[in-house]
Parts: sequence; structure tokens; C-alpha cells
Amino acid sequence: MAIERIVNPEVADEVGRAEEQALEGLRPRSFAAYVGQPLLKQNLGLAIDAAKVREEPVDHILLYGPPGLGKTTMAGVIAAELGAGFRVTSGPAIERAGDLASLLTNLADGDVLFIDEIHRLPKTVEEVLYPAMADFGLDVMLGKGPSAKSIRLDLPKFTIIGATTRAGSLSAPLRDRFGHVHRLEFYSPDEMIQIIERAAGILGMTLNREAAAEIAARSRLTPRIANRLLKRVRDYAQVKQVDTITRREAREALHLLEIDELGLDTSDRRLLSAIIEHYAGGPVGVETLAAICAEERATIEDVYEPYLMQIGFLERTPRGRKVTAKAYAHLGHEYPVAA
Ligand SMILES: Nc1ncnc2c1ncn2[C@@H]1O[C@H](COP(=O)(O)OP(=O)(O)O)[C@@H](O)[C@H]1O
Ligand SMILES: [Mg+2]
Repeated sequence: MAIERIVNPEVADEVGRAEEQALEGLRPRSFAAYVGQPLLKQNLGLAIDAAKVREEPVDHILLYGPPGLGKTTMAGVIAAELGAGFRVTSGPAIERAGDLASLLTNLADGDVLFIDEIHRLPKTVEEVLYPAMADFGLDVMLGKGPSAKSIRLDLPKFTIIGATTRAGSLSAPLRDRFGHVHRLEFYSPDEMIQIIERAAGILGMTLNREAAAEIAARSRLTPRIANRLLKRVRDYAQVKQVDTITRREAREALHLLEIDELGLDTSDRRLLSAIIEHYAGGPVGVETLAAICAEERATIEDVYEPYLMQIGFLERTPRGRKVTAKAYAHLGHEYPVAA
């Protein structure tokens, strides 16, 4: 297991869960407070309004994209905007078909059931979920052997919101049951500044625009990381007894965390340098990257790669991953000129 990284947007362990809990108050509760993702908000806003007019539940919604971009938050916002009940579970938590049946039969009409990490639902559970999503029905076997018979239970009219970092790992039949499928995008630098200023307000911090921009630049365009860094800056400012946080305090605090101007930490830099120094910049297979970092392949794909590709440091080619000229320059390596 690699060391815990502050710029890892996943919530991976107990420490991560405790930190996430401490930041719970920062979660936006309405479309108005939810910064960015304009297309997503527009599409879902329309779906919600239409459902309200028809007095029907909203069609099932699948949200996918890298960790920390606001999938869970958006699910809560949708339920709040609908004025609906919100129940939360996750793929790995639903072990048996019976667990799902009891969840579904306990819902009320119009409720939203949020299933996080929906790609990790067991197959046997998925098979019960399809008909439930399609016709709000549950087939239950009564008895055993030759006298067994199947009866259909009617379920309340609910909306499933599924979230996943890997839409590609979802089985096709499950994906097809979702009427709305949306990808969350990385935030723009301006949106990141807004997110940081909003969160600073809630945390009772005073920081100027330059300080917010400094934190934004190092947050990997990811709100969860921005919130974590903001908290570290607050701790630093408290110890240094400064009232208004400026670029200087922000820089000093973030420097201590060894996060550079682009939000790369030592693990990212080690990964890129290893490809440059030992593999001539690539292409290398994802398994090689996993070996360099001593991480799981999934961690490379879900955590390291999306941001490095977003900023144009890493490219996926049919033969593997390649480090770009931009990354060479950032790391102070000379880019090899093609002969
Ligand atoms: N659009 C947003 N505006 C403001 N803060 C956000 C936004 N999206 C996410 N956040 C913050 O980032 C944190 C992580 O978001 P979350 O919804 O848990 O991400 P995901 O479920 O995609 O991993 C939340 O606690 C929330 O405070
Ligand atoms: Mg989540």
C-alpha cells in the first residue's frame, strides 16, 4: 500500500473518512450552491421540473467521473430539489438479493435511492435490480422444489441515482436502465476559486482572491482536494496567527505539503520521471505504471491518470501511456528530438 496522499481524491481509509466527515458542512445542498457543471445542472433541472409537472418520479440517473468531483453531492442536491426522501447505500454494501429487496420495499413513493460505487454490485443483486428499475416490480420465489412459485410484488415508484468512477465496468443491461447518464467534468480554475471562497466563508476564514487562486491552482481541479488543502491552510494561518490569509500564507502552507504549482505531489513526479528516465517517455502499459507506483491498476486508472491527462501531461495511445513534452518541461527534463 502506498503512503496516503493528500491529493488523492478518493476517500480510502479511516483517516480519510474522518476528514470527509469534518468537511461534511461544506457540501452544497441546492443547485444554487452547487458551483459549476452547468450542462449537468441544466439537464437535470429540466428532468426534475418535468417530473414535478407530471407528478412522476424522475427517471433513474447515472453519474460517473473521477472521485471528488461532486457525484454524491449532486445526488443529495437532486433529492433536495425534488423534495424527496434520500436513502444512501453502495454497491459493496448490498451483498445479497434479499438486502436489495428489503431496501426497495422500505422506500416510499418518490424516494431517491443513491447507490454509490454501483459498478461493484454483485451480479445476483444486479439481476433483481433490472426489473425493479424497469417496472417497479420485484419477483419473489415462494417455497422450494416443485411446489415453488414466483409472485410479483409491486414496489413504490422510486428513482435510483447510481454513481461510479468507472462507467466502463458497468454491465450493459444495467447501464441501459438509466434514463439519464451524465459525466462530471473537472472544474475550471475560476469555478475552483468560487468553490474555495464559498467553503472559506462556511469555515469562517478570511482569505483574499490571490490566496484562493493559489489553493485553486494546486487542487487538481477537484473540489474534495480544494477543501482538504483549505483546511491545511487554515491550520497554518491559525498557528501563524494571521487574520487575513494572503498568497504568501497559502504558498507557505502548501509548500510544506510538497504539492507543486500544478497540484502534483512527489508520487506524480516520481511516476512521470520514472517513465522518462527508464522508458524513454513511453509508451508503457498501465501495469508498468502500477508497478512503478506500487499501486493497483485501478488506482492508476481512477486516481493518477485522469488529472495527468486533463492537464496534458500523459497521453493514452493504442500502445500504452506516453509522457508529453509539456510534462518533460515541467519536470525540467529535455524533450528528446525525433531523429
Ligand atoms: N459543485 C460543487 N460546488 C462546491 N463544492 C463541491 C462541489 N462538488 C463537490 N464539492 C465538495 O467536494 C466534496 C467531494 O464531493 P463528493 O460529492 O463527495 O464527490 P464524489 O462523490 O464525486 O467523490 C464535497 O464534500 C463537497 O463539499
Ligand atoms: Mg462519492
